Amino acid sequence: MNSKIEWIKKQKGKSLRVLTATDYPMARLLDEAGIPVLLVGDSLGMVTLGYPDTTHVTMSDMIHHAQAVMRAQPHAAVVVDLPYQSYETTDLALFNAKKIMNLGVDAVKVEGACLEVIRALVGEGIPIMGHLGMLPQSILKEGGYKIKGRSEIERAQIVKEALDLEKSGVFAIVLELVISDLAKELTHLISVPTIGIGSGNECDGQVLVTHDLVGFSPWFQPKHVKPLAEVGHSISSAASSFLSRSD
Ligand code: KIV
Repeated sequence: MNSKIEWIKKQKGKSLRVLTATDYPMARLLDEAGIPVLLVGDSLGMVTLGYPDTTHVTMSDMIHHAQAVMRAQPHAAVVVDLPYQSYETTDLALFNAKKIMNLGVDAVKVEGACLEVIRALVGEGIPIMGHLGMLPQSILKEGGYKIKGRSEIERAQIVKEALDLEKSGVFAIVLELVISDLAKELTHLISVPTIGIGSGNECDGQVLVTHDLVGFSPWFQPKHVKPLAEVGHSISSAASSFLSRSD
């Protein structure tokens, strides 16, 4: 495990900040701002490629965007999502994870309690970030983005999955749309950092899709993000000013 991943493991209780990066300028700007972990998330399918969900994202898409991010030579740790159906078996997962690691990135992220796959990848020395709660790659089965952990059965299942992931060797776990008291409980229960998104304020860190943070897509603003910029409006306004110039 490299020193950036070792550092992330030590960020229990230390407000770790993670943002998504999809291309060279975004990676460069976030890295220069000091963001310590860049996630090439498959949310790029929606925010940069215009797909309705992440199930359309391919390995070629992830490689193309991860390469652009790596051209910024970030000091930050770079974690890349393994996309939909690219880790259905251990052989396929190993093949695809190695392809992504060969780009020089630091780790890959997989969704759900795919324990055999995680153990196989960790066994090959590939650092794995886990992802529990709402799993965007399961959106077709789930039928929507729903808060997870409201029922006792769902709570017990997520607790078991978090413990299983920890035992399988992940170095951190993203908790997406997990009800906040459960996210807090998990944060106390497991030894690796929890990184929340829409899961309250009591995780060890927070991850956001940068496009949501900077208001890049004004037509879509998730409830859990208060945008800190209005990049979308700035682009529209610059375009309008350009149109009305007489030169
Ligand atoms: O793809 C992504 O951006 C993610 C975050 C939502 C954690 O997985």
